[in-house]
Amino acid sequence: MKKALLLISIALLMVSVMFGAESVKIGVAFPMTGGIAAFGQMTLNGVKVAQSLYPTVLGKKIELIVADNRSDKTEAANVVSRLIDYNHVVAIIGEIASSHSLAGGSIAEKKHVPMLSPASTNPLVTQGKHYVFRACFIDPFQGHVAAVFAHNYLKAKTAVVFTDVVQDYSVGLANFFIKDFTAMGGKVYREFYQSGDQDFSAQLTDALGKHPDVIYVPGYYPEIALMARQARQLGYTGPFLAGDGAEAPELVKIGGDAVNGVYYTSHFNADAPFTKIGKEFVAKYKEMYKESPSALAALGFDAYLLLRNAIQRANSTNPEKIAEALRNTKHFEGATGYITIDKYGNTIKSAVVNVVKNGKFTYVTTINP
Ligand code: PHE
Repeated sequence: MKKALLLISIALLMVSVMFGAESVKIGVAFPMTGGIAAFGQMTLNGVKVAQSLYPTVLGKKIELIVADNRSDKTEAANVVSRLIDYNHVVAIIGEIASSHSLAGGSIAEKKHVPMLSPASTNPLVTQGKHYVFRACFIDPFQGHVAAVFAHNYLKAKTAVVFTDVVQDYSVGLANFFIKDFTAMGGKVYREFYQSGDQDFSAQLTDALGKHPDVIYVPGYYPEIALMARQARQLGYTGPFLAGDGAEAPELVKIGGDAVNGVYYTSHFNADAPFTKIGKEFVAKYKEMYKESPSALAALGFDAYLLLRNAIQRANSTNPEKIAEALRNTKHFEGATGYITIDKYGNTIKSAVVNVVKNGKFTYVTTINP
């Protein structure tokens, strides 16, 4: 009798595992459509590589529930509410644009569900929050790296800095760059635009009148690509420098030859992985997608593994306990480097500088904190 009961319960357990009743639900809040859809797609590819290598945690299947924020700030908050209240996820991987993580992060914070951004670099994303974390470095560092690179490597004395006024990422990164570049003796002129703009000729005409040694655009790929095209048409042959938001295949698709010579600071280059697991990631990614992974793919991979590791250490799927474990992440080996989450929810890691060369994202150098 006892044996029969045991057999029945084992069978029930197997059935429930097979039908996902016993899965651990993790929300994914990314821009899968809209202006910056390439970011969501690349990051999700990386998350899926991690899931295919490590599909379970605490003996249960990890189920990803992907919610599209449509590249929109209001939706960015809505999807986090929905994932928590309707899908009952235990944690969220997201979001990508800093303005989206700021919107979604306030909801996660209020509901005490941990949210781990793979890629949002604006310092305000985690500030004052106990349930919001990130797998990447922050923009005071990224801006510093750009200023050092402009000054030491490009030997720039004068920079025109473009700012996308509707993106917290761009506003912050522009300011951090300006602070460090001027401290090194550089001179800065400023221009402004916003996501969705198509015509930059007025700003560019004004900018080129300053004869800059470099044009710094800490924005996202759609506008950088168009801006580069228009600047080349106006006769600018000098370098562009951008931030991590430049990297997407669409930069080259939209920008064509004009984006050759765009340098940008980033988290990862598949030709120069930082760690052993980074090499494994690149191999598996190539096997699955027949191409090299982007920085966002590597960060997505790391975010999934960080979260899985936190659930393991918490030995629980309780959101409070997962958040607590995330707070205690130390020296975790990811594809983008060793990750320690500090008491502010942030990460300190090296940055790379890449350049677009013959339409390829080519490694230039690594700059350590
Ligand atoms: N750092 C960007 C932000 O905070 C997001 C991003 C990271 C985009 C890496 C592309 C690559 O908005």
